[in-house]
Amino acid sequence: MSMSPALQLWMQPRLQQVEDALSRWIDAAAPADLGQAMRYAVLDGGKRLRPLLVMATAQALGGTKEQQADLRAACALELIHAYSLVHDDMPCMDNDVLRRGKPTVHVQFGQAQALLAGDALQSLAFEFLTPEAGDATIQARCCALLARASGYWGMAGGQAMDLAHVGQRMPLQDLQQMHRLKTGALLLCGVQMGAVCAGLHQGPRWQALERFGQTLGLAFQVVDDVLDVTADSATLGKTAGKDAQADKPTYVSALGLAQAQAWADELAQQAQQALTDTGLTEEPLTMLRELTRWVVQRTH
Ligand code: IPE
Ligand code: IPE
Ligand code: MG
Ligand code: MG
Ligand code: MG
Repeated sequence: MSMSPALQLWMQPRLQQVEDALSRWIDAAAPADLGQAMRYAVLDGGKRLRPLLVMATAQALGGTKEQQADLRAACALELIHAYSLVHDDMPCMDNDVLRRGKPTVHVQFGQAQALLAGDALQSLAFEFLTPEAGDATIQARCCALLARASGYWGMAGGQAMDLAHVGQRMPLQDLQQMHRLKTGALLLCGVQMGAVCAGLHQGPRWQALERFGQTLGLAFQVVDDVLDVTADSATLGKTAGKDAQADKPTYVSALGLAQAQAWADELAQQAQQALTDTGLTEEPLTMLRELTRWVVQRTH
């Protein structure tokens, strides 16, 4: 994984915090092994980019007023993401058997349990966001942002577009819309929730951060399309070559590999420019800039 030492150093304790919180909060004793399936889907795997984005954004804006608000938002977002992967892998969607280097949840626990694990991860995310003690306004804003980003004008809508266009060529505009929804919306939501936790929810700085999140989110899925072609299954921890095999419209099928890679680089530059447009000084922006570089340089 191509990552700077500074990013590694920053990440390490945060990844640990996220892992500990997720492990503490997903009850292994939930009925009929549902908790086991959920823990299997969430723990010990994944890059945790979305949680890191929440935390890096909150930090860039001076930190959260309320202790752990960003950790809760970070974990909630990861739960939604993990649920989207469980369902994405099911036979009725992408029909994948490998995820995060392990058999997929439906392979391990059966389809009904995978469906239910996804459902329960989704509702648990909103429980994470709304602890009894906590700033009600921040909680409500985060819930609204996460609900929208997960729903029909977000991840679920994008996934519906993805499945509706198997075997078809899509105009670039539509492809972009699909990528923004199925993947970009949750990354953008990470930036938005990080900002909300730090007390920012409107104005020019908020808008620049939204542009950053949107652009980074799109770049992320372009790179996912590229890696599906260029990386192997062992490195990816999921089946390589799946998009071509399933005849999915991707940036690689639309533009070719070299142009798709160039487009990801261009988007990363636009994301960096959006960070500059926040008007923040360089020091607080460091980790957001590093994460942006990692998104396009990653190998899995
Ligand atoms: C994979 O996301 C699915 C997409 C939305 C492209 P990630 O590449 O972030 O997967 P994990 O969380 O690291 O496994
Ligand atoms: C997935 O896109 C987007 C989701 C919302 C899960 P892909 O289907 O390309 O993700 P991978 O490649 O299976 O991780
Ligand atoms: Mg898919
Ligand atoms: Mg898939
Ligand atoms: Mg993919």
